[in-house]
Amino acid sequence: MTLSRLLLAATLLVSGFVKAIDPMGMFYKLNAYFGAWGMPFSDDSLILRSGVITLATIEFILGIYLLLGMRRRFTSVAICIFMSAMTVVSAYIYLYNPVADCGCFGEAVTLTHGETLGKNVVLLGASLIVFSRRRYLFRIISERNQWLTSLYSWVYIVALSLYSFHYLPVVEFTAFKEGADLRRAYWEPDEATPVALINFNLEADGTPITDSLLDVEGPTFLLVMPDVATADDGCNDRINDIHDACLDANYGFYGVVTYEADTAAVTTWCDRTGAVYPILRADLDQLRSMVRSNPGLLLLRNGKIEKKWSNNDLPRLDGEEGWRSAKKDFFGENPLLKLTLWFFVPLLIVIFADRIWIGSKFYKHHKFKKRLKTKNMRKKIVAGNWKMNLNLQEGVALAKELNTALVADKPNCDVVICTPFIHLASVAAELSDVIGLGAENCADKAAGAYTGEVSAAMVKSTGANYVILGHSERRAYYHETAEILKEKINLALANGLKVIFCIGEVLEEREAGKQNEVVREQLEGSLFDLSNEEFANIILAYEPVWAIGTGKTATAEQAQDMHEFIRGVIAEKFGAEAAENVSILYGGSCKPSNAKEIFGKKDVDGGLIGGAALKVADFKGIIDAWK
Ligand code: PGA
Repeated sequence: MTLSRLLLAATLLVSGFVKAIDPMGMFYKLNAYFGAWGMPFSDDSLILRSGVITLATIEFILGIYLLLGMRRRFTSVAICIFMSAMTVVSAYIYLYNPVADCGCFGEAVTLTHGETLGKNVVLLGASLIVFSRRRYLFRIISERNQWLTSLYSWVYIVALSLYSFHYLPVVEFTAFKEGADLRRAYWEPDEATPVALINFNLEADGTPITDSLLDVEGPTFLLVMPDVATADDGCNDRINDIHDACLDANYGFYGVVTYEADTAAVTTWCDRTGAVYPILRADLDQLRSMVRSNPGLLLLRNGKIEKKWSNNDLPRLDGEEGWRSAKKDFFGENPLLKLTLWFFVPLLIVIFADRIWIGSKFYKHHKFKKRLKTKNMRKKIVAGNWKMNLNLQEGVALAKELNTALVADKPNCDVVICTPFIHLASVAAELSDVIGLGAENCADKAAGAYTGEVSAAMVKSTGANYVILGHSERRAYYHETAEILKEKINLALANGLKVIFCIGEVLEEREAGKQNEVVREQLEGSLFDLSNEEFANIILAYEPVWAIGTGKTATAEQAQDMHEFIRGVIAEKFGAEAAENVSILYGGSCKPSNAKEIFGKKDVDGGLIGGAALKVADFKGIIDAWK
């Protein structure tokens, strides 16, 4: 497919390009077809000129679209249609031989009819391959920016065709290019018997004068008129000025018309323009090749073609400078190279910029997706832990105030407040659904004679949905072991509570480098008997004991390292999906000033907040870290 693509793109680009740099040549070739069908266009036909530009544009644009992988469906279908039509035309030419040359590549490459047909069959095959695999055409320019390369290609090819029509071909492929030494080209000089290499013959009243003209050392002007009847006479003042200047300087000046040109038409030209220069006759094809303009001016000196001008760009004699036209010479030396560079350099810059744009977009998207996958899918949570603070009235007032603040400014995360048992029911009545409610503990027994205890069912009945279990203060001061916590967790889950399960090492353990071991044991000891369904209701809170209430926070890196480790442990036991989905909060001296940095870490999904949860401004500051 890639080979077919490159072959087609290169052929289309080259054939569109050669038509655009020598549109008049293509005009003559196309007109040969219409002549063969008995309906030739006149040499100044605007319709056929438009046809030439259209053909050049179609080929060039299809070539560039295919090369860059733009509008793949349209392009591949259009190329199939185009190549089918061209194959039919070349089969027809092969069979009926209506014209001498098909004109595919203008004058640049001429093929026999058989070669043309063979070429088109191969290209048609290539276009079918491209069509059938069009979805796999690699896009060199992104869809979003392809309008730019498309627009640029259109402007380039149309402008080039118009320029070459108005002036002369920017690059010439005929034997009559500027600088050509006609004496050498006309006769093979090394042969004993000279051989004519190009068809060059000029006659004055039936007498050949080619040799004598080529021998003149000074300048000779030939005003070439392939079709005298339609030749542009708007420039005759200019021509007559040049003729006058030639008379003064004793330079030759001739009009040249075809052998077939009607004498009446020649006379009309002379009458209309006041021409008093001698008129020579020559072969039609030769005149068309000499200058691609009607009329066109050609300057011969010493047997060489020194310069050519179109009717739209006739020169003036400019003292020392010689004969100069008003037009700036854009192309100078190496026009082919310049034209190619003018097209491809800006195109490559656009493609390069596009690649960078795509690359950065892809990178961002990739990063975003990765974050989304690993983090944003998990719940982000900020939970408050009031501990043994605030009487009922103070607690209700705080809950009310917090609720008002969060209703007014919706949080970007789940917010939970965990309060003493006696607050729960009253606080529940004050909260809207932006805040979840939880207890700080629950009993390890379901119900019965356990004086002073509060069961998970009772917690649930207040309207609370969460419970903190395994907090380091309960482990340390109330001797809650892994076994007791396991009972509590089971009861909480059985009663439809979500568990915020706390884990974390003490300072000596951290200093001994045993934090991972400790945390792993805490997880294993209380959670590893859960099923995956049960585990889905667990929220983990890593709280390094040395950071709780001490004002000392773990660094964001320490938190991230531990959270990643915890997620790994969970993955081992409950699988990668459960590990990806479990929210792991950080707790321990979390404040508005450090929350953002800690929450910014990949595996940190929020915080469990003690002291800072007792003031609305602080707690909300931490919640807002998610914004
Ligand atoms: P702290 O407490 O934020 O006051 O350090 C955290 C906790 O114990 O949950």
